[in-house]
Amino acid sequence: MTVIEVTELRKAYHGTPAVDGVSFTVEQGETFGVVGHNGAGKTTTVECLIGLRRPDSGTVRVLGMEPARQRRALAQRVGAQLQESELPARLKVAEALRLYAAFYREPDDWRAVLQRWGLGPIRGKSFGDLSGGQKQRLQLALALVGRPELVVLDELTTGLDPVARRETWALIGGLKAAGTTAVLVTHYMEEAEALCDRVAVFARGRIAAVGTPRELAERTGTGSLEQAYLALVESAMREEAR
Ligand SMILES: Nc1ncnc2c1ncn2[C@@H]1O[C@H](COP(=O)(O)OP(=O)(O)OP(=O)(O)O)[C@@H](O)[C@H]1O
Ligand SMILES: [Mg+2]
Repeated sequence: MTVIEVTELRKAYHGTPAVDGVSFTVEQGETFGVVGHNGAGKTTTVECLIGLRRPDSGTVRVLGMEPARQRRALAQRVGAQLQESELPARLKVAEALRLYAAFYREPDDWRAVLQRWGLGPIRGKSFGDLSGGQKQRLQLALALVGRPELVVLDELTTGLDPVARRETWALIGGLKAAGTTAVLVTHYMEEAEALCDRVAVFARGRIAAVGTPRELAERTGTGSLEQAYLALVESAMREEAR
């Protein structure tokens, strides 16, 4: 089953294109990576997937719905962790989880989620007092407490220490084993290589290439996803400079 179908998506801010004709599909159970340079259009694209932004043109279908029109219905089935999203500074960790769980019809046990994500020791801390990595962890737990069919994670491990990053990878691996579909925006190619079935390389508002990490390496005549990424993004940048 196709969970996400994006066709010729376009979105501009004040007349400047941010996403300029992007098409891709994601199948059920797939972990789909989104990588690309700063300003490539990754966050704008994932925001369109969850109905936070309305496309200027093109079509977006997620779980059979149109996100911009059916945002509330979709939110029951999709968990999202957005880049730099904030919670009220005085909201405590346990309160946030309980609150989010209450939003969903069939949530996970929020106390179990608290433990699973290592948030037990900081359950009484206010969001505003958390470290960057602790905020990330909480955001991820909040994205999952509703037992979503699809999770959209925008730079989920940015700012995490290496141990926390590995732990997060293991948890994402667990999601995958449970059949959850995931869209993972990341700047870490080793992360994309370890977790993603397929990866889309965004450059200047378009997808420069999409495929398995191995396919991308082969197609660019390089040895790794990291090398493929550099080749693809640098060539798109050279085009722009011309
Ligand atoms: N709210 C906004 N208003 C105006 N321009 C915006 C807005 N959000 C994003 N942009 C612009 O759109 C382009 C794409 O931004 P986007 O956030 O989608 O990139 P990104 O690929 O997620 O980058 P990063 O890796 O830095 O997170 C950038 O040029 C950015 O400056
Ligand atoms: Mg971004």
